[in-house]
Amino acid sequence: MTYVHPDLARVLISAEAIKSRVAEIAQEIGRDYAGVERLYLVGILKGAFIFLSDLARELSQIEGAPPHIVDFMALSSYGRTTLSGEVRLVMDLRDPIVGQHVLLVEDIVDSGQTLNYLIHSLQGRGPASLRSCALVRKERPGLTTTVDYLGFTIPDVWVVGYGLDYADTHRTLPFIAELRREVYDRSG
Ligand code: IMP
Ligand code: MG
Repeated sequence: MTYVHPDLARVLISAEAIKSRVAEIAQEIGRDYAGVERLYLVGILKGAFIFLSDLARELSQIEGAPPHIVDFMALSSYGRTTLSGEVRLVMDLRDPIVGQHVLLVEDIVDSGQTLNYLIHSLQGRGPASLRSCALVRKERPGLTTTVDYLGFTIPDVWVVGYGLDYADTHRTLPFIAELRREVYDRSG
């Protein structure tokens, strides 16, 4: 039985659903990048660490998929716990990405501000190609950030688990759950 913490309203995406969707995304990526000498997977910390580790392990089992390198960047937003604020780079990639095929791996796209910032910043470093992958995206009419590989679209609620946090809590849940509104409204 799945225990559901009282802060959580409901499980939105089960561990099983995530697993099969991640495998599908890996298939798509493996197919699209077949023949490429190597793929640079850039995970955005902290949120993307679980998604990236599952995605990369799926990818390494796909016949014909390119070899890949994993690296990370860490961002922090100046904003409040549940609002998108200004983005700040707190940890950069270890190596230059000039001439590399780069795939940005994000946990979630909300306003798109973070992804736009990253694309802009990495594009300036001269990669051979640059695409983005996110496990979830919130349904927010009018926002047009492109995500090349997307797992799920969810309603505009605060979600936790599978890397996603609320004030650094609930991050390691194996599923994605909706946080009760009282929990995040309380702290504003
Ligand atoms: P954006 O810049 O508005 O697209 O926000 C993206 C970042 O905000 C993500 O990388 C997350 O760190 C965080 N974020 C946005 N929505 C959620 C959520 O529902 N749960 C957890 N983190 C979120
Ligand atoms: Mg966060």
